[in-house]
Amino acid sequence: MSTLRNDTFLRALRREPTPYTPVWLMRQAGRYLPEYNAVRARAGSFLALARTPSLATEVTLQPLERFPLDAAILFSDILVVPDAMGLGLSFAEGEGPRFACTAATEQAIDGLRVPDMQSLRYVFDAVSEIKRALRDRVPLIGFAGSPFTLACYMIEGGGSADFATVRRMAYARRDLLERLVDVNAHAVSAYLVAQIEAGADAVMIFDTWGGLLSAQAYRELSLAPMQRIIQAIRAQCGDRVPVIMFTKGGGAWLEDMVRSGASALGLDWSCDLAFARQLVGDRVALQGNLDPLVLLTDPETVARETRAVLQAAGPAPGHVFNLGHGIVPTTPPEHVAVLVDTVHAASRGRREQGDRADAGP
Ligand code: CP3
Repeated sequence: MSTLRNDTFLRALRREPTPYTPVWLMRQAGRYLPEYNAVRARAGSFLALARTPSLATEVTLQPLERFPLDAAILFSDILVVPDAMGLGLSFAEGEGPRFACTAATEQAIDGLRVPDMQSLRYVFDAVSEIKRALRDRVPLIGFAGSPFTLACYMIEGGGSADFATVRRMAYARRDLLERLVDVNAHAVSAYLVAQIEAGADAVMIFDTWGGLLSAQAYRELSLAPMQRIIQAIRAQCGDRVPVIMFTKGGGAWLEDMVRSGASALGLDWSCDLAFARQLVGDRVALQGNLDPLVLLTDPETVARETRAVLQAAGPAPGHVFNLGHGIVPTTPPEHVAVLVDTVHAASRGRREQGDRADAGP
């Protein structure tokens, strides 16, 4: 049914056999690429870049011009949703995100509303423009932050070493945090459905901070709202669009995550991929999980560690190669080339060896 010329990524998400393991990398478009830095300088800022569909399209395609990646990911940021809720996002050079207003009090949280999706129109326009520019080369991934991860930034007003205010609130004012993640879940549901309607072939929910919670708080404050988003997507878009759920630091809760209805689970590098596969069986696809710092070593080490991840993933269909978190800005692009080529060559080799073994002597 798909007209995509390379649909290995979507096939792997559906746990169908593929001739090789598909690969894409979190933050594949970003500051480690000189051509990205040039466009960002031209745009004036990261946010100006993200808000201009033609420029967002240009940087989305940059890594695909360099490396034979098997998927593109929309160039944007998870924090544009709280920005559209009126929190006033900015990025100070070298300091990370900042919100002009926080959502840390009962009054502020009660005042929050699901934003009018028209205010995020620039994102949906970027999705359509990227789809046209890709000309069916590879699938396009849309994304959003998890309701809990967005709440972390909304409460603290920016990044934090330990998100202590949020974690305290999880015990002292669970009701407030529940209200906040509930508004976020409604907003993210509408936002991801609109990305799918604009052409996204798969969507990923980034739960960067869910791993900070206790097991019980994770289930109620992070997993449950992500599950409601998955249900909303299925109700409005059917089963055709895979949903990838990535809770960084969530390796201990794989069984709960499998039951969420996600098509695939993203894993960070602390997780044993072989163990994860054994635990989830053929219920979901797995995505991951090379430590991004491996890319700061040397080509031989990159190739060796990449093969180790493939080995751990095993022969069963349903693995998408990725890092366990985003590429860091000091990554040499040549090492990314080694990674991508190793994934393709080594996984083809493993399939052929497997075929010979199946054929018998
Ligand atoms: O993966 C991609 O190539 C797509 C683009 C993408 C960005 N952010 C672009 C970006 C995606 C998927 C994100 C997700 C995101 N944003 C997450 C979840 C994933 C994760 O990394 O944990 C989070 C927590 C954010 C919030 C955010 N955005 C932070 C904390 C920062 C500052 C830290 C940093 O890396 O600079 C950003 C900025 C940001 N988002 C940049 C990019 C390319 C760098 C901005 C720049 O060019 O100056």
